[in-house]
Amino acid sequence: MSNTLPSSSAEKPTQEPNNLHDLTEPLIDHTEGQLFLNETLKIIIEEVLSKGTDIREKVCEWKEPEQLALLLDLELRAAGEPQHRLLQRVKDVAKYSVKTSHPRFMNQQFGGVDYHSLAGRFLTESLNTNLFTYEVAPVFVLMETEVLRGLRQLVGWTEGDGLFCPGGSTSNMYAMNLARYRLFPEVKTQGLWGLPRLTVFTSAESHYSVKKGAGFLGLGTDNVIVVKVDDGGRMIPSDLEEKITLAKSQGAVPFLVSCTAGTTVQGAFDPLDHIADVCEKHKLWLHVDAAWGGSVLFSKHHRHLMKGVDRANSVAWNPHKMLVAGLQCSVLLLRDTTNLLKQCHSASATYLFQQDKFLRYQSGRRG
Ligand SMILES: Cc1ncc(COP(=O)(O)O)c(C=O)c1O
Repeated sequence: MSNTLPSSSAEKPTQEPNNLHDLTEPLIDHTEGQLFLNETLKIIIEEVLSKGTDIREKVCEWKEPEQLALLLDLELRAAGEPQHRLLQRVKDVAKYSVKTSHPRFMNQQFGGVDYHSLAGRFLTESLNTNLFTYEVAPVFVLMETEVLRGLRQLVGWTEGDGLFCPGGSTSNMYAMNLARYRLFPEVKTQGLWGLPRLTVFTSAESHYSVKKGAGFLGLGTDNVIVVKVDDGGRMIPSDLEEKITLAKSQGAVPFLVSCTAGTTVQGAFDPLDHIADVCEKHKLWLHVDAAWGGSVLFSKHHRHLMKGVDRANSVAWNPHKMLVAGLQCSVLLLRDTTNLLKQCHSASATYLFQQDKFLRYQSGRRG
């Protein structure tokens, strides 16, 4: 029998096609799935969260790649596997993975486990949501708005903009794109061909994403001018000023200084106040890559390290580093109140942002 639907209501099929599912029946077996999830959670709590944070246990059951590939038996098969086998696989994943919340695991990316943060992640994963629009994620859109407001307040801004990004590198690249757009808005529609040689200034100790961003955005990595650092790894403002003047004398157009608050290797904080003076004098966008060190803004004792951050145009901050939020959690904060982010990045998808929607709250990806 044909499985095609009848072409008109007059030609009713005599029999239901047998591949149509009755929509009043569940599509998948939730009971089985939830039993499996319960067993998986038990393994996670025991192997990852209990043993994985116990100082007497290993950080990792280390194996060389070939040996690990054999142990894990990763071949993709056409047929499924029984639950007991899948649970064994869950155990193996836990066993052979690095326990990043272990007290002996030290790395600038990770701050350990916070159980409330983890519960939040389980919740968002289970809700399987995304900040597309208010209609699809009302709770999270409001949360993002409020968290951005609170973080901006720590920077020292009562107004502004921002959004959560996939990581610190992306936050830095967004800032670079916004800085260029502010100076040359036509770049969005006309592309690069009409632009002069634009230059970015950053310290020798800054994160590699500054160069990477310049490559991605068509600025060219050679146009990232490296400013000298002092013995503590901090950008030297006088060298910055000299290099800006030199670039201008060579016909280039400086547009962005990307400072670092907490350099990846040394943890140095660039002198933001002095650098802000230079940026104001030369009318340059000041971006602060505070992916690593931004969390000092929570500390009465250490926030002086970022003195002058309120004079920046943008700040990138990764709460997954020192604030114990889960990976990846990165935010880009902006002092701008002119809707620059939306003008620069929106593609105005009409099917998404219709007039009957809560446009004021489309905070997520900015149209
Ligand atoms: C100073 C600094 N900026 C940017 C980044 C990049 O962040 P992400 O790994 O989230 O892209 C890092 C990462 O370690 C960093 O230390």
